Amino acid sequence: MTDAPLALLAELTHRCPLRCPYCSNPTALTGPGEELDTATWARVFAEAAELGCLQLHLSGGEPTARRDILDLVRAAGGAGLYTNLITAGVLLDAGRLAALAEAGLDHVQLSVQDAEAGSADRIGGYAGGHAKKLAVGRLVTAAGLPLTLNAVVHRQNLDRLPALIDLALDLGAGRLEVAHVQYYGWALRNRDALLPTRAQLEAATATVEAARAAHRGRLVIDYVVPDYYAKRPKACMGGWGRRFLAVSPAGRILPCHAAESLPGFDFPNVRTSSLRAAWEGSEAFARYRGTGWMPEPCRGCDRAEVDWGGCRCQAFALTGDAAATDPACALSPDHGLLALAVEEAAGAGEGFTYREPRPEPRRAPAPG
Ligand code: SF4
Ligand code: FES
Repeated sequence: MTDAPLALLAELTHRCPLRCPYCSNPTALTGPGEELDTATWARVFAEAAELGCLQLHLSGGEPTARRDILDLVRAAGGAGLYTNLITAGVLLDAGRLAALAEAGLDHVQLSVQDAEAGSADRIGGYAGGHAKKLAVGRLVTAAGLPLTLNAVVHRQNLDRLPALIDLALDLGAGRLEVAHVQYYGWALRNRDALLPTRAQLEAATATVEAARAAHRGRLVIDYVVPDYYAKRPKACMGGWGRRFLAVSPAGRILPCHAAESLPGFDFPNVRTSSLRAAWEGSEAFARYRGTGWMPEPCRGCDRAEVDWGGCRCQAFALTGDAAATDPACALSPDHGLLALAVEEAAGAGEGFTYREPRPEPRRAPAPG
C-alpha cells in the first residue's frame, strides 16, 4: 500500500514578469490558453485533501498572475489545506495581500534574487523588482502572515549571503531558505555562469553556521550543500512518488516539478485522471518509487532508503539516463562529470540565457 503524499505543488501558470536564468519551469513553457480553469483547480485541491495532503504550495511562474488567485486560495482553504503562496511579489500590493489573507492564505514564501538591487534586478531580468519585493515583504508581515524569504544562490550572489541574512531579519521573516541552484532546465543552460567556486561555498557554509547560532529562536535558515560539491545526493522530493506530487499549468500530474524534462513518460492529466488514480495506480509514479528500480551501486547500498538514489531529473540531465545513480553520489561512475563542470565554469563569463515565454531565448550581455 502506497503512503499518502504530504504536499501538492500546484503550478498555476508559467506566466511570470521575471525571467530568472535558473527558473525551474520547463524550457517549453505552457501558454495561458492551455491553463486549467478555476473549477478544475478547486476539484484538484479537494482531491489532494482527500488523498491525504496537508499542504498546498501555490506556485508558477507567478501564481498571482492568475486573476482567480483569491478564488483558488478560498478553494484550498475550504478543502482544509495549509496554503503557501510561492511568489516573486512584484504583482502584489497592500490591497491584494489583505484580500489574500482574508481569503485564508496561511503563509507567503517570497523570492529575492540578491541583496543588492542592481544585481537582483539584473538576475531577475526585471527593472525595479528588488525594491518592490522589499516593500511587499514588509506588507506580508504587516498583514500578519508568516514570511519565508527564498534566496536562490549561485556564483553571482553568494558573496552577499551575509546581507541576504540581514535582509531576512529586517523584513521579519521567520525562515530563510538558502537554496543552491538545481541544474536542469533553464539553469542547466546557464550552469557555467552560475556554478559557485569551492571557496565561495566554504565561506557560505561558515556564514550559515554562525548566523544560525546568532539568530536562534528568531530566524530558521534552511541550507543544503549544492550537489556539485556533495559526496552523496539529496533525497530529491523525499523520494520519487513518496511524499509530493505536482500538477503543471496544463494539468499534468507529476512526481516532481521538473519531471516533464524526462522523455518516455505518459504522465496522467487531471482532466482525465483523479490524483488518487495517478498516485496509486499510474506507471509514471511507480517507475522510480522505492528501491526495486535501482541499478548498481544504489542496489543494496545502506543509503538506498535515505536518499532514494538522488534526483532522477539530474541523473537524466547529466547522463541521459533517468534510471542512473545520481552523479552527485561519489559512488556513481558518472561522479567525475560534476568536477568537470565546476572546472569548465571557473573560466566562463557571467552572461545569462534568460528565460523567455516565447520565442527562443536570447543572450544578455555580461555585467559591467
Ligand atoms: Fe545513495 Fe545510490 Fe549513492 Fe547509495 S549509491 S549513497 S543509494 S545514490
Ligand atoms: Fe525531478 Fe529531482 S527534480 S526527481
